[in-house]
Amino acid sequence: MELETEYAIQTSSLSKEFSGFKAVDNLNLSVKKGEIYGLLGPNGAGKTTLIKMLCSVITPSAGKAHILGKSIPDGNISSQIGYMPQETGVYLGLTVEQNLKFYGRIFGIENDEIMKREDKLLKFVDLVNWKHEMAENLSGGMKHRLSLACTLLHQPQLLFLDEPTVGVDPELRVSFWDYFQDILKQDTTILITTHYMDEARHCDRIGFMQHGHLIAEDSPRVLMEKSGKDSLEDAFLEFSNRDKSPAEKSQGGVSQ
Ligand SMILES: Nc1ncnc2c1ncn2[C@@H]1O[C@H](COP(=O)(O)OP(=O)(O)OP(=O)(O)O)[C@@H](O)[C@H]1O
Ligand SMILES: [Mg+2]
Repeated sequence: MELETEYAIQTSSLSKEFSGFKAVDNLNLSVKKGEIYGLLGPNGAGKTTLIKMLCSVITPSAGKAHILGKSIPDGNISSQIGYMPQETGVYLGLTVEQNLKFYGRIFGIENDEIMKREDKLLKFVDLVNWKHEMAENLSGGMKHRLSLACTLLHQPQLLFLDEPTVGVDPELRVSFWDYFQDILKQDTTILITTHYMDEARHCDRIGFMQHGHLIAEDSPRVLMEKSGKDSLEDAFLEFSNRDKSPAEKSQGGVSQ
């Protein structure tokens, strides 16, 4: 059932278990429409698992989630969302241009329109001169840039970007963030993961994730204030420490 809501994403006690191990553990998350929300946390925190559930790639073990007012998993939501997977979703046996056309056709976009969007996106990700190159011949960062362009082609309302800037050079990373700010003005919502704390400060809100749940969330400024730290890195460590059980804290003390 579809509900009218101010939220693009809402989860309630969402969980995912793999052979008894809780990769996402009773997670409650609300992201408002038009917001850019950054999910930050160490390797294995459950960020990708959460995104895969929200994109209906994998099924939750328990709990509920609504995406743009629709209860998931929902096969009909794909035209409204864009998912850039962490592992890069491009077809290596196709050229750069063929990849974009392929994604355009999946979403039923007319050829003329695909070509217009393709030109703009290739400029944005700086791959104009690589248009006819096979994707397998691109560097890792370039494949990532192509994957981002493919994700944006059908102009989705809600974007899930799993480490979109990894391996991308600093200058282009800055232009990516400018672009994200631009599309937010057109009422797009973005859920993004990153390990680059310097770029996380561009998010409206950040959720620090650890062991499958959120240990803190707020604007970057408030997170630093609440933790008494002056960098997001230190703020994360502070919240991580507060989240530890007394036994874990004393273990930490012994090992130092
Ligand atoms: N298909 C799977 N089968 C078994 N375990 C899995 C599977 N997918 C993920 N996991 C486990 O779930 C946990 C969370 O993984 P996930 O990929 O969501 O972490 P992440 O926060 O995205 O990490 P990273 O920052 O390295 O991308 C990890 O311990 C991982 O090994
Ligand atoms: Mg991940």
